[in-house]
Amino acid sequence: MTVYYKNIILKTHPEVYEPKEDSFLLADSLEVGKGDSVLDMGTGTGIQAIMASRDASVVLAVDINPKAIESARENAETNKAGNIRFLESDFFENIKSTEKFDLIIFNPPYVPSDEKDLAAKAWAGGVNGREVIDRFIEKATSHLKKGGRIQMLVSSLNDLGELQRGLNCLGFVTEVTASKKLWFEEICVLTARKTGKNH
Ligand SMILES: C[S@@+](CC[C@H](N)C(=O)[O-])C[C@H]1O[C@@H](n2cnc3c(N)ncnc32)[C@H](O)[C@@H]1O
Repeated sequence: MTVYYKNIILKTHPEVYEPKEDSFLLADSLEVGKGDSVLDMGTGTGIQAIMASRDASVVLAVDINPKAIESARENAETNKAGNIRFLESDFFENIKSTEKFDLIIFNPPYVPSDEKDLAAKAWAGGVNGREVIDRFIEKATSHLKKGGRIQMLVSSLNDLGELQRGLNCLGFVTEVTASKKLWFEEICVLTARKTGKNH
């Protein structure tokens, strides 16, 4: 199947998360500065990486699913996004510990479910849908440049208040910069800016 989003053409793959409302909300709300270095964690078909590549100097697109890396690479080629690198990795495992970014994007698996196979890794977020999100935040902070940001999709299923308090304790100022009501949840984009206080 082919998805047309703004002026991007995305070929989907049966084993890769197909872009949906959550993908589009995050892609619509990206705050990419001219020349930024960007990490797109859990790139899937590459939708946010391709959007970000328009203003960024470089984008690193990462996914734990090798089929997602293939799919994102093919879509980047179709859309002539030549400044994206691709990396199969479980979060930051294969990223150099010294590599830092201005912006880290993540549309995480956030649905409360403890299914564990590779297909479920695209959507199942463990208890409260927060297991993957919490693991990601713990590791992401050390890969941000001074003044760097995280933009992440979260749902009303994920206890947003607690998530924001946790990020505040790590020295981030947080803001909901976009939201959309769906029939059983509200999804939003949480933008967290590192202040330099604390860690
Ligand atoms: C909800 S999908 C989002 C895909 C795409 N960014 C989008 O918005 O359409 C979550 C993605 O995160 C990837 N993922 C899950 N756990 C991961 C991990 N530990 N490390 C890297 N990627 C992971 C999944 O394979 C999947 O492609």
